[in-house]
Amino acid sequence: MERNRSKYTPKATFHHLLPFFFFYVFFSLDCFVAQELVGYGYKVESVNNSDPSGKTLTVNLGLINSSSVYGPDISNLTLYVSYETKDRLRIRITDSTQQRWELPQDILPRQNQTSQNFSVTDNDLVFNLRNTTPFGFTITRRSSNDTVFDTTPNPSDPNTTFIFKDQYIQLSSSLPNNRSSLYGLGEHTKSTFKLLANQTLTLWAADIGSVNPDLNLYGSHPFYMDVRSPSGDGKVTAGTTHGVLLLNSNGMDVNYTGDRVTYNVIGGVVDLYFFSGPTPELVMEQYTELIGRPAPMPYWSFGFHQCRYGYKNVSDLEGVVAGYANASIPLEVMWTDIDYMDAYKDFTLDPVNFPLDRLKNFTNNLHQNGQKYVLILDPGISINDSYGTYTRGKEADIFIKRDGNPYQGNVWPGNVYFPDFVHPQSEPYWENEIKLFLDQLPVDGLWIDMNEVSNFQTSNPTPNSTLDDPPYKINNSGGHSPILSRTIPGSALHFGNVTEYNVHNLYGMLQAKATNKALTNLTGKRPFVLSRSTFVSSGKYTAHWTGDNGAKWNDLAYSIPGILNFGLFGVPMVGADICGFSGDTNEELCRRWIQLGAFYPFSRDHSDKNSIRQELYLWESVAASAKKVLGLRYRLLPLFYTSMYQAHKNGTPIARPVFFSFPEDTNTYDISSQFLIGKGVMVSPVLQQGANSVEAYFPAGNWFDLFNYTSVSVDSGKKVTLDAPPDHINVHVHEGNILALQGEALTTQAARNTTFELLVVTGSSNECTGELFLDDGEEVEMGGEGGKWSFVRFHSARAQNGSLVLSSKVENGEFALSRGWIIDKITVLGLDKVNATQFSVSLPVGKEFELELKPNQTLGGNTL
Ligand code: NOJ
Repeated sequence: MERNRSKYTPKATFHHLLPFFFFYVFFSLDCFVAQELVGYGYKVESVNNSDPSGKTLTVNLGLINSSSVYGPDISNLTLYVSYETKDRLRIRITDSTQQRWELPQDILPRQNQTSQNFSVTDNDLVFNLRNTTPFGFTITRRSSNDTVFDTTPNPSDPNTTFIFKDQYIQLSSSLPNNRSSLYGLGEHTKSTFKLLANQTLTLWAADIGSVNPDLNLYGSHPFYMDVRSPSGDGKVTAGTTHGVLLLNSNGMDVNYTGDRVTYNVIGGVVDLYFFSGPTPELVMEQYTELIGRPAPMPYWSFGFHQCRYGYKNVSDLEGVVAGYANASIPLEVMWTDIDYMDAYKDFTLDPVNFPLDRLKNFTNNLHQNGQKYVLILDPGISINDSYGTYTRGKEADIFIKRDGNPYQGNVWPGNVYFPDFVHPQSEPYWENEIKLFLDQLPVDGLWIDMNEVSNFQTSNPTPNSTLDDPPYKINNSGGHSPILSRTIPGSALHFGNVTEYNVHNLYGMLQAKATNKALTNLTGKRPFVLSRSTFVSSGKYTAHWTGDNGAKWNDLAYSIPGILNFGLFGVPMVGADICGFSGDTNEELCRRWIQLGAFYPFSRDHSDKNSIRQELYLWESVAASAKKVLGLRYRLLPLFYTSMYQAHKNGTPIARPVFFSFPEDTNTYDISSQFLIGKGVMVSPVLQQGANSVEAYFPAGNWFDLFNYTSVSVDSGKKVTLDAPPDHINVHVHEGNILALQGEALTTQAARNTTFELLVVTGSSNECTGELFLDDGEEVEMGGEGGKWSFVRFHSARAQNGSLVLSSKVENGEFALSRGWIIDKITVLGLDKVNATQFSVSLPVGKEFELELKPNQTLGGNTL
């Protein structure tokens, strides 16, 4: 029988009751019982509110009746509510009597001190306890009464009951029909950025390969952003956004039906964090305040990178570097995959093909040309008594164990042990290994791969071990594999008897943390780490790439949702293998891919050993396109880098969903094939074979093509068909922006030595703004106190007489002055219906200025 939800009201609302005798009023109001659901779930047994500030509340829950599947239920639970900041609310539910596994602060430091500087009513989120039987809770918005999260069970659907067992937790929330757009919950390869209804999103780090859409992949990020469409009553405005994190490291299936999100988790506790937004940018600021802001990346890492699995020897590498130079295509960073190692052993060199003297010479030459060198490392340490990295690891006793002995896996070098990054001695061990290596060969960054952990063998489960074979089977690899498949089995042990079962998803994050720390300590410079496996907070330590994609048109398209998702996960330095990793690419695909990949935050061409070579100079048309698009990328480096600064300070992604800048335009919620760099540059690539045009969505306003300044002007958002001839990608800048551009160059170092041009993009909006962050690009902290950096804010407004008043405000101008940076050109787009008006100037970037620019050519102005 269908039940009428409304009969479960009224509800007790936490904050409304605060001024009263809380406990009494709370329950006296709540005299109704939903008889229909008696039988399963939990009921409220007592509520404890002794916190006079009203910021915390404890609810004791008792089991109503056990269910028979997935093991015994936990009888008594405690639910803790805490308003941690004015925009964050935490709900934690755990066993009342026994400590369970949950993420400790030393593994994942988070800012979880309840701040004193706000009152509960400053927070727009409201916790409401529904003292029904079984119980539920909702989170609503104070400002609009919109329901953010609603765990009230649906009587006709047992999948919505709250269940808490040792190895199975089910928590379900309903979502307002058709008003909720969800993003996040990765890592998966996705054909759309917005999550489509009726799918199971499995989170369990696995080396499955990103050619398989929707399967669980290398990382685990149980975070989603919910962007709301307006409510009928007008109380919720379009783009009102909140974020939800289930901070849990265990494997899980997240079932999304469109009107419900249901977590089925195989361990840990319920630790939910709600971020009130109400804009997408603010959600990112609030989320990264908790988990840590993204690591600053060195300036050079925004240059173009070339890699391949299968470079044969140092001459091969030299040939590639020369190939780029001869074709005059920017090449910033050369990479080498596992080929450089001696028998695939970390921290060793193949004495024949990659001998130390040749590699040293190669690295020196790169450095002399302002280029960089990055090498790969894998976690598996070859078991070999004559191998120092192994013997020192054995000595330090830092390998993951099973049944009292180091657990033996099998990866590229054959049999291996895996360092246990939960072990306090693993960081010094890892740092020392890196030191010994860097002392010989001073590489510029490290790439940590296979850290899910990937294992070429599947070990037998320990008989009767529910860690190796838990009662609830998550949909690992689409349901085809048990969780111990091709990784370290759950029964293996880390330091302190922590089971692999509980920390499996953390390996990549902890390895990235150790690698980042080692590089910082050893070089005194800002580290560059690229990690395949990631978890919540990985962005604090590492960049990421989307893994083993295919040289296929679909994979080109899927790279956009992939990159946008990592922006939401707080890992803004992200890219996909340009031209495709596995399978043979082709000229057209590679050309379209570099056109798009030139605008990935992390821009790297990488291919598999078994596929054809795909360096950008190998085809004439690809080379020509690469020069053109990388030329624009290098002119935009100040924007990429300033976006990095914004990410580091506020958590805002570098590559952003279009709705970040246009949240009020609900059409932007479905966009999967376009994205923004920073707040106002929109990339609309060709993603289909044979296409010479592209249908792109333009939010309202004036937009200018950054290659040729042709404009698209739309009064309200609409789809526009744009020409996209073979050598062209559409990249437009929106009115209201001021971009600081530099010149094209073959390296970022050379680009940084060019003068600046300010591009002021005017339109119906009166004001334009832009920001520019400058430092030396490798100081460990970015924009830190006492650091050498400058920050410039540009502003322009129309004066009454029609002229444009352009000015700058400068913080710490000395650094920019010391570098002698000059703005020598101002280009105004859209001034008096003329596409571009240029003015020659000579303004030190580090000095504030105010100028009046008249359309009729002053200051050496020149109308195009
Ligand atoms: C797997 C990585 O995803 C890929 O990028 C790399 O080339 C191979 N491992 C070999 O190291």
